[in-house]
Amino acid sequence: MSYSIAIDGPAGAGKSTIARIVAQKKGCLYVDTGAMYRALALFFLREGLEGTDQAAIEGCCKKAQITLGFENKTQVVYLNGENVNGLIRTQEVGDMASVTSRYPKVRQELVRMQQKIAGDTDVVMDGRDIGTCVLPDATVKIFLTARVDVRAKRRYRELLERKETCSLAAVEEEIRKRDHQDMTRAVSPLRQAKDAVLVDTSDLSIDQAADAILEICRQKGCV
Ligand code: DC
Repeated sequence: MSYSIAIDGPAGAGKSTIARIVAQKKGCLYVDTGAMYRALALFFLREGLEGTDQAAIEGCCKKAQITLGFENKTQVVYLNGENVNGLIRTQEVGDMASVTSRYPKVRQELVRMQQKIAGDTDVVMDGRDIGTCVLPDATVKIFLTARVDVRAKRRYRELLERKETCSLAAVEEEIRKRDHQDMTRAVSPLRQAKDAVLVDTSDLSIDQAADAILEICRQKGCV
């Protein structure tokens, strides 16, 4: 029987880096669901749409086909057949993804795809609603978080590495705004599932956090 490890949490908690290591160590697929919302957001930006214009955004969803490929277990996200992996990590795309992911029509198709992937194979899947909505019966559920100031510093360093200009204060403000948006939306808000284990990475290295999750997996019999 296949297993699924759901990892949810706010922006900057280290989800994707840590989830990727956990998947590598377990030899299973890593699915980054945020990348799917980001690819759709890129489409909306290219169409010149306002994120707050729900009717326009939902009306446009069908024109964007998001598909996933896996090369050497690395996820590639395609927008209407174009590999957009290199274009979706900007602050602008992240903001658009956070705003537009609250609309039911934006989520519907992506959630269906995520459920299908997890039904077919062993996965580590990260996002905001994996344990609460996408995979309510996941074998292991983790809620990964860290203090806001720690998450802001991590995101700030990432953006600098990508040569994006920003200030630490602005990044922290952005993260607070993103937390608020993701946690207060009506549809599938970010929250810890009742049966999820909380892992706070504020004072943990990436490897320590990955080891903590692997230990939880062992305790849950997911080996
Ligand atoms: O994890 P990320 O920063 O790449 O996600 C970008 C946005 O996508 C996030 O602010 C909210 C949305 N998202 C979501 O609503 N549900 C998910 N499962 C994953 C991401």
